Amino acid sequence: MGTVAIETSGLGKSYQLGLSRRGYGTLRESMVETAKGSLGRLAGRRGERAAGDTLWALRDLSLTIEGGEVVGLIGHNGAGKSTLLKILSRIVEPTVGWADVTGRTGALLEVGTGFHPELTGRENVFLNGAILGMRRAEIRARFDEIVAFAEIERFLDTPVKRYSSGMSVRLAFAVAAHLEPEILLVDEVLAVGDAAFQRKSLGKMNEVAEAGRTVIFVSHNLAILQALCQRGILLERGEVLTDAPVTEAIDSYLRTLEKAAGVDLLERTDRDSRGYDESLIRRVQIEDSEGGHADTVVAGRPAVIAVEVTEALPMTECRLTIHNSLGHPVATLDSEVSAPVDVRDPELGPRIECAVAALPLLPGRYRIDVVLKGKRQIQDGLQAACFFDVEPGILQDRPTPISGADGDVVLSHAWRLPE
Ligand SMILES: Nc1ncnc2c1ncn2[C@@H]1O[C@H](COP(=O)(O)OP(=O)(O)OP(=O)(O)O)[C@@H](O)[C@H]1O
Ligand SMILES: [Mg+2]
Repeated sequence: MGTVAIETSGLGKSYQLGLSRRGYGTLRESMVETAKGSLGRLAGRRGERAAGDTLWALRDLSLTIEGGEVVGLIGHNGAGKSTLLKILSRIVEPTVGWADVTGRTGALLEVGTGFHPELTGRENVFLNGAILGMRRAEIRARFDEIVAFAEIERFLDTPVKRYSSGMSVRLAFAVAAHLEPEILLVDEVLAVGDAAFQRKSLGKMNEVAEAGRTVIFVSHNLAILQALCQRGILLERGEVLTDAPVTEAIDSYLRTLEKAAGVDLLERTDRDSRGYDESLIRRVQIEDSEGGHADTVVAGRPAVIAVEVTEALPMTECRLTIHNSLGHPVATLDSEVSAPVDVRDPELGPRIECAVAALPLLPGRYRIDVVLKGKRQIQDGLQAACFFDVEPGILQDRPTPISGADGDVVLSHAWRLPE
């Protein structure tokens, strides 16, 4: 112990807003943009940021991370998490301050980063290995393992630009984790890919961590962070708010989430709105069957999740994700996956409703993330737009377990038992 893997001092990164993002930045940066599509996710994000404004994505960050530490990076959308990882992996230059990274660094950043689209999967593995400073023989020795892990054998000689995003992520993760980096930086990727691959990736990260490597891991999934990391760093608006054992950092994050839900949703700047400039989501509430809108609903009773918007855009689709108190997703309700019971009601006004016949949740505290989608773009999105408590109730004549039960959902069910 005692060797410093990462040290930063007075680190800051600012962006000029309103300028075209093309024409500056590195090759990799522009590849990320290409990979993300032409939506200009961050460029025209908020109306209030006029051209010429400076935005500090990261501010005065002084950190020391020892070799072998496994650190979870937590924070709202736009807090600066990806920016920090990009600086540490030398994809972007800091505006002020410095960052020292000692050791071979493998990075898995946003989808598509790190690959050359015109090169094949095979060529990219060698290219990445070379960037990590490995000799060809070393890369060759790990090659089969990487390909097997990524499950892309058949596409090895296909240019990466023809890969699906799932395939790119699988390969990128395999490369980052298998080329024996001393420092592994992983940004939110586990959200992509199927459940089996997510499990496999987590297992691999655990292995890397247990082998005494340094890991910095960004995730909104607090349960995973808690399981994987010892130390948690909470960023808010580019600054460190908490740097503590991971459980403490998570608690601190949950408190900031609750505070954010208390402010006027239209005022929040941590939104996900790719391509649409105005804030749309005004208020999100869960209403019980009596029409009251206490933040408390009873398990097993009908409930309506209502999203009030500033204007009703034509053909908006809405996705609601319910998370438990640890941020673990419990259920997704998506209007895009339609059913005959769904209606488009011209009388409804600027409001979207999703009715649940009998709320199948165990007692506890939950939050709802909301995304509004147009045909081709995300119109507005907010994490933790609403918090609510579920009280014990009765689902199909059976009381819900009081507390201490494992899991988050109740299923209606029937037993057959011997006499
Ligand atoms: N190339 C860029 N040009 C302009 N602004 C940018 C650029 N990259 C990032 N930003 C801004 O910097 C801030 C921090 O962004 P960053 O991507 O680091 O956040 P994050 O914590 O990773 O968020 P998320 O959880 O949504 O991934 C945001 O306000 C973002 O809009
Ligand atoms: Mg990010």
